[in-house]
Amino acid sequence: MPNLSTTYLGVPLKSPLVVAASSISSHVDRVQMAESAGAGALVIRSLFEEQIQLDSMQLDEFLAAGSDSFSEATSFFPKIEHGGSKEHLMWVEKTRKAVSMPIFASLNAVSPGAWVTYAKQLARTGVNGLEVNLYSVPTDMGKSGSDIEKALYEVIESIKAEVALPVAVKLSPYYTSPANVIKQLEQHGAGAVVLFNRFLQPDIDPDTETLVNEMVLSNPAELRVPLRWAALLYGRTRLDLAVNTGVHTGRDAIKALLAGATVVQVASTLLQNGIPYLSTMLLDIQNWMDERGYKSLDDFRGKVSQKHCDDPFAFERAQYVKLLSSIH
Ligand SMILES: Cc1cc2nc3c(=O)[nH]c(=O)nc-3n(C[C@H](O)[C@H](O)[C@H](O)COP(=O)(O)O)c2cc1C
Repeated sequence: MPNLSTTYLGVPLKSPLVVAASSISSHVDRVQMAESAGAGALVIRSLFEEQIQLDSMQLDEFLAAGSDSFSEATSFFPKIEHGGSKEHLMWVEKTRKAVSMPIFASLNAVSPGAWVTYAKQLARTGVNGLEVNLYSVPTDMGKSGSDIEKALYEVIESIKAEVALPVAVKLSPYYTSPANVIKQLEQHGAGAVVLFNRFLQPDIDPDTETLVNEMVLSNPAELRVPLRWAALLYGRTRLDLAVNTGVHTGRDAIKALLAGATVVQVASTLLQNGIPYLSTMLLDIQNWMDERGYKSLDDFRGKVSQKHCDDPFAFERAQYVKLLSSIH
């Protein structure tokens, strides 16, 4: 049997399939199921600073509403303080203990200090590494791209200064120069990049003339963007590359590995096909490797990257002009 083991963020993994941050991590039995089906690791859903603030505000409102109803009410209520990140941290710790595969925590903060505070708290749960989820939609017209990028590097640097764990950065594909951002992240202490965060875009319903925010799972066509970037980056950065978004089958995972992925993260396909589908994906990878005589992932990782491909320009303009002219 071909060997599927790999190393991600310095942590040995028995397979390159990593369960992406998602609701799959909300139940311990699902995490255990992922481990039994052959997952190499799992990322726990993010600790969102806004969620903590919202819960805290709701608690404050509830207490305030109660105290309006009865003049003495404030004395009825014992001093309740919002648990903050406590509940999430307990969950991370419980999950960490329930399985032996590596577990990564994910964090999405808004204020600069909060990133470090929560990173330190998450590090104490015993997780193997941190994924910094940079999901944000910058809308401030007064803020330049370089201001936003500078703030990002400061976040990574300050986390690395306080936390000994390896850090992966889940990036947006929408930087003017993702390659430069990735180079800077490397210099500021990141260990891996997750290509890419999947931005959920609101839709508009013309019948009701309202916004529609619904959770739509990914489709395999979305793999093209991370695939191209993994292929462009392979061999040009020391960072591990986690390809994420649009990996739905074992064949998709093979494509990502050929492009240069260190690991492949999956969520939508497991929500659609069930968590045991991981084992089918792994079997498809092994069968494909067997057919070609590959003994380990390193035998073919990055084989179709820009570095190793016959036409190094293919990934850049991707035959843009030729393809456009070919449709009549
Ligand atoms: C139900 C659900 C919950 C998710 N929660 C998180 C989260 O908490 N943090 C995060 O960084 N990504 C989250 N994601 C995004 C996934 O980690 C992943 O980046 C995205 O779904 C693309 O991968 P896929 O094509 O395999 O689904 C979530 C996705 C889904 C479907």
